[in-house]
Amino acid sequence: MSIDRTVDGTRDAGTGTTIDITTATAADAAQLAAVAAVTFPLACPADSLPEDIERHIATQLSAERFAAYIDSPRHTILCLREGHRIGGWSMVVVDQPTDRDVLAALSISPTVELSKFYVHPDHHGAGAAAALMQRTLELAAGSGLPGVWLGVNQENARALRFYTKHGFRRVGTKRFRLGERFEDDFIMEQALPDGAGNA
Ligand SMILES: CC(C)(COP(=O)(O)OP(=O)(O)OC[C@H]1O[C@@H](n2cnc3c(N)ncnc32)[C@H](O)[C@@H]1OP(=O)(O)O)[C@@H](O)C(=O)NCCC(=O)NCCS
Repeated sequence: MSIDRTVDGTRDAGTGTTIDITTATAADAAQLAAVAAVTFPLACPADSLPEDIERHIATQLSAERFAAYIDSPRHTILCLREGHRIGGWSMVVVDQPTDRDVLAALSISPTVELSKFYVHPDHHGAGAAAALMQRTLELAAGSGLPGVWLGVNQENARALRFYTKHGFRRVGTKRFRLGERFEDDFIMEQALPDGAGNA
């Protein structure tokens, strides 16, 4: 299933800069990888091993991986743009979860995954993340599915607060493998407007 890839918009971030939010194209892959390398460590627990974080960035958040996501009909990446600079990104995946913990926790099916949501520290606390979330939820709703879910590290208090402010509620826990260790995530979900599934 594909979802609307033509989302775009303009938003003042409250910092005097103009933010555009548009879907990623192949030309964005390298810059997305560079932003991911800055922001992924911010989402990890303080005691994560630097070598595990570096390996995850090199293998899961490389320009090649982004190019593949951009090419995939099931994945859509939204970029927060300040001129030619990418200041954040989110990724929505239209694919049903297979993780047993996720399946047990979710109350809405079928569902869309908000797989990644990262904003550069330059834009934290400025409203840019809120604009990206609004667009991301609109994009998710465009799938026609009734729910959206995400996983977030249990120690990531800022993201937990942010997701709660934007309508997500905690429904369970799961594990996330980083290197040889398993980290603990909360599973969060929310209903999407105009969904047609089994709420
Ligand atoms: C998560 C993220 C997108 C949120 O964007 P943001 O601009 O920081 O979000 P906001 O400022 O609108 O909201 C953050 C909230 O957390 C609060 N907060 C900040 N630090 C906090 C902390 N250590 N503990 C608890 N709450 C905290 C803020 O006060 C704010 O709440 P408020 O509006 O009620 O005052 C952004 O911080 C980010 O990209 N972080 C790094 C990557 C990441 O963790 N991504 C999520 C992966 S699942």
